[in-house]
Amino acid sequence: MRAEGLPFEPVTIGPLTLRNRFIKSGANEAMCLDGRPTAALVKHHRDLARGGVGMTTVAYMAVAPEGRTLPNQIWIRPGILPDLLALTSAVHAEGAAISAQITHGGSFVTGMKVKGRTISASSGFNPAGMLKGNLLQRAMTEADMERVTAEFVAAAQLARDAGFDAVELHMGHGYLLNQFISPLSNKREDQYGGSAENRVRFPARVLAAVKRAVGASTAVLAKINVADGTRRGAQVEDGIVTARALQAAGADMLVLSGGRNVESTWFMFGSRMNRQEMAKVLKQQGERLMAFAMQAAASREPDIQFREMYFLEYSRKIRAAVDLPLAYLGGIKSLANAEQAVAEGFDCVVLARALLHDPALVNKFHRGEVVQSGCDNCNGCVAYIYHPAGTRCVMNPPNDPDLNKIPASAAE
Ligand SMILES: Cc1cc2nc3c(=O)[nH]c(=O)nc-3n(C[C@H](O)[C@H](O)[C@H](O)COP(=O)(O)O)c2cc1C
Ligand code: SF4
Repeated sequence: MRAEGLPFEPVTIGPLTLRNRFIKSGANEAMCLDGRPTAALVKHHRDLARGGVGMTTVAYMAVAPEGRTLPNQIWIRPGILPDLLALTSAVHAEGAAISAQITHGGSFVTGMKVKGRTISASSGFNPAGMLKGNLLQRAMTEADMERVTAEFVAAAQLARDAGFDAVELHMGHGYLLNQFISPLSNKREDQYGGSAENRVRFPARVLAAVKRAVGASTAVLAKINVADGTRRGAQVEDGIVTARALQAAGADMLVLSGGRNVESTWFMFGSRMNRQEMAKVLKQQGERLMAFAMQAAASREPDIQFREMYFLEYSRKIRAAVDLPLAYLGGIKSLANAEQAVAEGFDCVVLARALLHDPALVNKFHRGEVVQSGCDNCNGCVAYIYHPAGTRCVMNPPNDPDLNKIPASAAE
């Protein structure tokens, strides 16, 4: 029987109306060459749009070349406008909207060498940069903050000009803006450090500037942590302060995530990393040191069991504290999960792994063909962000490596 009801109804987010409330979460596709989208990326997002999502999110589009964590990520710049246009028009042709996740890694640069010290909230040793020699980070000055704000604004303007319907500023997971928000990385003693209100000051300023620049035509979203998942990290009370500050700065919707790439990946995924798949893929690419480091990190993870909707208790607290639209993310695995999230007052549901496993899941939910995702939360897909053919679910056939060698604008 055909499923109807709230998750399938349109929703308005700032200047944007989506055909339904299912959003594909930004999940590093590893589908670009020299920071330029490939034909594989077009196919990936076209499949998701054809499969029924209201909006798909292009992951990790760095606002500056040194803002990438890996060399196979997009660096958003005027020279790639034709490739971005190919991507957005393919998605629009299928009736879906498309969002650009714009971000800067700051000191979280794991896969490439950055000239000089990486930027961050605070100075000091940079554990995330060990493998590629980015050993030290420096605290951003006011001039750095102005430059990075301008980079975010320019990236948002370019995304708008390329036809993106929304931009999502990444303020979670341990990237630059989160390095300010989280007490794990912000040790400043000025107006940008200390209290939760101070720590969100710079990220909120960036959002307000982006909103001023593109907000009339483009929805401005932010992905935040409801909590970092560690004792010394941001707690849900900090998440509430962050959400309130971003509401005041003009955010059209917040996507609620959690966890940090270095300290608490397991919290982000509600489950442990897949050590075997990670070692296999990294060794194939000659990244033996990284394989060793990843395995060592994974072995220190707590032994947690995956739960559907694993961020719900945290996200409910944010829902109760703010009025702006919120998107529930984290372990949406069934139609019932999506219905529950919307019934509890979340305006959208955001899915990564369930849609990597089956890009047509939303249509299948809608047609009543399935009610449960076949994804078993093995996290094998995470290893494929290092694969030359791009990210995929290990249950599906391999991606075509040749598609990942053709620029998006040259695709058929
Ligand atoms: C392969 C893979 C790559 C990811 N890359 C990103 C990323 O680039 N940016 C981001 O914000 N989150 C990234 N994530 C996290 C997801 O967006 C999402 O927050 C997380 O998987 C939880 O949602 P889920 O339970 O629906 O999978 C990634 C997840 C996966 C599985
Ligand atoms: S590899 Fe496939 S089944 Fe495993 S977590 Fe990723 S999407 Fe789910």
